[in-house]
Amino acid sequence: MIFEQVATGGCQSYLVGCADTCAAALIDPEVSQINRYLALAAREGLRIRFLIDTHTHADHFSATRRLSQQLGVPTVMHRTSPSPLVDMRVDDGEMVALGKLRLRVLHTPGHTGDSMCLVAEDRVFTGDTLLIGATGRTDLPGGDPQALFDSLFQRVLKLDPALRVYPAHDYKGRSHSTIGDELRDNPRLQVREREAFVAMMRSLDLGMPTHITEALRTNMSGGKTVSEMLAEAAASVPFMSLEELNSRVTAGDTELIILDVRERDAYEQGHIEGARLLPRGQLELRVNEELPDPTRRILACCEFGRISTLAAATLQQMGFQRSVALDGGMKAWREAGYAVRTGKSP
Ligand SMILES: [Fe+2]
Repeated sequence: MIFEQVATGGCQSYLVGCADTCAAALIDPEVSQINRYLALAAREGLRIRFLIDTHTHADHFSATRRLSQQLGVPTVMHRTSPSPLVDMRVDDGEMVALGKLRLRVLHTPGHTGDSMCLVAEDRVFTGDTLLIGATGRTDLPGGDPQALFDSLFQRVLKLDPALRVYPAHDYKGRSHSTIGDELRDNPRLQVREREAFVAMMRSLDLGMPTHITEALRTNMSGGKTVSEMLAEAAASVPFMSLEELNSRVTAGDTELIILDVRERDAYEQGHIEGARLLPRGQLELRVNEELPDPTRRILACCEFGRISTLAAATLQQMGFQRSVALDGGMKAWREAGYAVRTGKSP
């Protein structure tokens, strides 16, 4: 077995491959690590054949959909996954074949209804069912402490104690433990009576994961995250620095059109000299009357430099090939001490 573990913050993902046939699967890939996974697979001489999520993640952005489109290979989840974009639905007792290697599915609901563990030779990928020194939480959508009790004590903890445990999360930088270690040391697993275990899980007072609504939205629908939208826009437009813009404004550059895409009140409270107001929400509809010449050089600015990136990308798509975004926003402009004007748009 060829095996690579990739940590992203507290999230763990795994590249697992068959040494004989070079067929591999990615387990719980995260969207910011796509280039790393592909580079690791190339370095190890592996061909990724399956993209597997052990469950519907609420705390990070799954890369399975994006990689599936890029590589043309199926996404794999448990049969009960709510996502309409699962290509291969698997169920308890089935196996995913990677050349001569087999990933055996254990359906282990509890953290979510669609949680599964995958057993491969000497190790088990436990998703968020069993963590090192903890268990997955049961207070997020689909969570059920009764089901988690059964999944742990009837299924996972009955596996060979020597099996290595590779979870979907570890916040302390540990790579793995074993079933035997967890049975002995995991404090939550010392509570072996059902009602006491359920009461303990219900009494955990955990904060909501950051980005939970965005993670559930994108993981369940295959849609894009806000940062992906911004990264795509940033990859398609040039930027101008605050310093460069300031020197052009002070030199009286009349060639450059500065387009302030914030709302009117923000504009009137302080804008760059000569900037025109065209709020982002009205951009497409008013662009023809405001910017009749598509050959002009246009710089979009906003408060933080994000909406202006989207606006500049939209202008590029509409044929304004010389549209650029300010590298930074009006907040940074003011903090740099550059001049602002107040009042209405010319
Ligand atoms: Fe999770």
